[in-house]
Amino acid sequence: MSVTGEPLKHPLAERLSAGFDHRYREGFVVTQPGGIVMPAEFLLDAQRILDFPVKEDDVWLVTFPKSGTTWTQELVWLLMNDLDFKTAKEICITERFRYIERMSTLPKATRRGAPDTIQLAVDQPSPRLIKSHLPPALLPRQLWTVKPKIIYVARSPTDAATSYYYFNRLVHGISLSLDEFLECFLAGVVQFTPYWTSVLEFWNLRNEPNILWNTYEEMKQDLGAVIRKTAAFLGKSVTDEQLHQLEDHLSFTSMKANRATNCSDVLLSLRTSIGLPPPPSDQTFMREGKVGQAKLHMSPEMNCRFDRWIQENIRGTGYDGPV
Ligand code: A3P
Repeated sequence: MSVTGEPLKHPLAERLSAGFDHRYREGFVVTQPGGIVMPAEFLLDAQRILDFPVKEDDVWLVTFPKSGTTWTQELVWLLMNDLDFKTAKEICITERFRYIERMSTLPKATRRGAPDTIQLAVDQPSPRLIKSHLPPALLPRQLWTVKPKIIYVARSPTDAATSYYYFNRLVHGISLSLDEFLECFLAGVVQFTPYWTSVLEFWNLRNEPNILWNTYEEMKQDLGAVIRKTAAFLGKSVTDEQLHQLEDHLSFTSMKANRATNCSDVLLSLRTSIGLPPPPSDQTFMREGKVGQAKLHMSPEMNCRFDRWIQENIRGTGYDGPV
């Protein structure tokens, strides 16, 4: 089986592309299988990802973008590395935990000269820690036979979509309003959408013994409980004192102040690669870190549209995750 893609044809796709100043020159495709929107260049890498050799002791983290990926990466890395807080503060999380399809998500100008992120994931010393935003059909096939540990993190689509907008403004200087971007999100023309593809498929897999289902909302409500649950899943134990150290290190304030987790250097280099100046000081990757805030940013009309869209998509699925 190989991955193919139909060019994305939708009136809003052109609007979105203009918002990105047409930097994704080759355009976007809807993948088959998977049915998600990806830059056309993804098709060059998709087969290598499907054929990626998985190891039993890998730990995979899968999310829809902006669902608390970095937060969970930091937690998992620490649990898997004897709580080495010193290294965690010195080396950027992007180097400690590899994002397999990263190179395929970038505009061409940025991709040129960027490292081969699939190879970086292959070459990591074991146990390898690998992150992806892809749905099951586009993930390495061996995940389903070798069955390493996989953590899925879900977040309310309203909060994830809003966070995604501010992220695109920060990284790509996207020139759309929040509501315009959200309209594209609902229409499923934004990279990695439709939102429900990956979330519902992992929801259905959540009781598999090698899969842990976490949510951003649970992490906000009771980080300690999520730390304990994740540690148990990874076969690690944490004392009460270590739990407090982890909670402190993983707090929004600490991660925002920590250069190795606030992604400021990575984002600056991405902006530079597409000719954008450094971001204004009020635009940061660690933005609000809250639950339910998105509803305050969107227009009342967009709020209603999201509510309807959520209900339409979860009806009959039994989905009980964050909405
Ligand atoms: P907001 O934009 O809503 O603030 P991802 O890592 O998947 O890209 O997700 C980024 C989102 O997670 C951002 O959300 C970011 O602020 C939030 N986040 C990152 N670390 C966090 C932490 N320690 N506590 C709470 N939220 C965090």
